[in-house]
Amino acid sequence: MSNQKWWKEAVVYQIYPRSFYDSNNDGIGDINGIIKKIDYIKDLGVDVIWLCPIYKSPNADNGYDISDYKNVMDEFGEIEDVDKLIKEVHNKGMKIILDLVVNHTSDEHNWFEKSKQSTDSAFRDYYIWKDGNGDLPPNNWGSIFGGSAWKYDQKTNQYYLHLFDVKQPDLNWEKSKVRNKIYENMRWWLDKGIDGFRMDVINMLSKDLNFPDGKIMRNEKYGDGSQYFLNGPKLYDYLSEMGEEVLFDYDIMTVGETPGFGLVNAIKFSKHKGNDLLNMVFHFEHMSVDRDNKNKWVNKEIDLKLLKDIYEKWNKGLYKKGWNAIYLGNHDQPRIVSRFGSDKQYRKESAKMLATLLLTMPGTPYLYQGDEIGMTNVKFDDIGKYRDVETINHYRVKTKSRPKDKVMQQIYRTSRDNARTPMQWNKNVNAGFSQSTPWINLNPNYKEINVESSLKESDSILNYYKKMIKTRKNNKGLIYGKFDTVLYENKSVFAYIRTYEKQKYLIILNFFENYLQIKLPDNIKIDEYNIIISNYTNNEYNNKNIALKPYESLVFKLS
Ligand code: GLC
Ligand code: CA
Repeated sequence: MSNQKWWKEAVVYQIYPRSFYDSNNDGIGDINGIIKKIDYIKDLGVDVIWLCPIYKSPNADNGYDISDYKNVMDEFGEIEDVDKLIKEVHNKGMKIILDLVVNHTSDEHNWFEKSKQSTDSAFRDYYIWKDGNGDLPPNNWGSIFGGSAWKYDQKTNQYYLHLFDVKQPDLNWEKSKVRNKIYENMRWWLDKGIDGFRMDVINMLSKDLNFPDGKIMRNEKYGDGSQYFLNGPKLYDYLSEMGEEVLFDYDIMTVGETPGFGLVNAIKFSKHKGNDLLNMVFHFEHMSVDRDNKNKWVNKEIDLKLLKDIYEKWNKGLYKKGWNAIYLGNHDQPRIVSRFGSDKQYRKESAKMLATLLLTMPGTPYLYQGDEIGMTNVKFDDIGKYRDVETINHYRVKTKSRPKDKVMQQIYRTSRDNARTPMQWNKNVNAGFSQSTPWINLNPNYKEINVESSLKESDSILNYYKKMIKTRKNNKGLIYGKFDTVLYENKSVFAYIRTYEKQKYLIILNFFENYLQIKLPDNIKIDEYNIIISNYTNNEYNNKNIALKPYESLVFKLS
């Protein structure tokens, strides 16, 4: 079938290099560290490695603030190390994609340094500069990391736009000279042999040039400008131009990070004139099943019905029209087992249940480092131990009006640093991550939760992931099959069928800690199926009835 593609069949492993493995003992993970662990990655059975940014950066936002696109961050190594990594990854039969961060640069990028020199600098219009509104910023937009989205520059008496941190000025995509510079950087990396890009906040490139004020939410000081900078009027033009200038010349994969994009855009942007444009996107809809849609710091109980609706909508909507990216966590989200499972008594069971979801959905699965061993959220007792700019800004802004311990509770649940503690390799000093004090503290549970012991235990989460990845690879129906929800009304069990030619699979996931009984609908007869994988060994079912244990997951195949 012509619409079968290598990137649809791939399983992606996401690496946060700073926290993966430190090869030279300065406390910071690095490129050579990844090379040293390449056999471990290969052994998982994954096909593609996605590296979070490795470019030169002053690290205001851990590399998402780039000061030189053609160089490597000092702590991570040299460009030759990256060449070597690309080669080693290819030698192992895997592929590698890089983060493309082109909505903004660092304020230490020489484009910005020249841009801020004077209003008539040749680089002035590389960024978005505006006059103030009297003594106020050009509009009321808040930055995604807290505070105003505009920073006043005394020297030139104007403001520049930064949708993220003050050290991340937004590029002005209106200018073709800016776009061409970016395309040239992209080609430079593709010509080195990388296999694609994960495109950071790629749907923020085109802004509404009227810069209207945004609505101010309750308890907020700044306006929400998202409707004026997400999916803007020229976004499709820019991306299709990027396709023509760069992407279409290579056999690569692309995944867009696209908050608030929607299904219609996901389909529209997947093609341009018959060429593959954005192969798939990370939408954020399922990130709101346990928290406020507009304010990630406000939590609620997991709404499984909502989760079902979201997957149903995307899976049905994209079927034969586009392709999905499946993720539950990444470097911006809390640990999946703490968030959607349980990090206490049922840590193993629930982590395996989530692995089952990740690897039986239509779409390309993204596995984030550490989730394969069930790493959990962390609680640092002092804000001084946190490193994430968003977390620190949140604390600074919110403790003005709220008790500190309330704010810390929010941080424990939601902080991005939950997912950024060093990878836990073994029970030795610093979890085997480094011989020196790491740049961020370890999760103290590394003595129990680590790679070395997971490799030894036959029923570990790690071994389950390996088995589950193999299961997906050996059953094309789990990749390409049509998706249909069953037991839709059930509030604690997520169940679905995948159908592909003559193959049929039934997946049952108990999402909570309760023991419960379910009865399958009349058209599904369990005795016609065989179990191919489960997180328990003593499953109980007959005919149409299944007794589910806490977080039990079952994958059946029609025999
Ligand atoms: C994306 C990245 C995140 C970063 C932000 C700004 O959301 O995943 O880590 O802080 O963009 O670049
Ligand atoms: Ca290092």
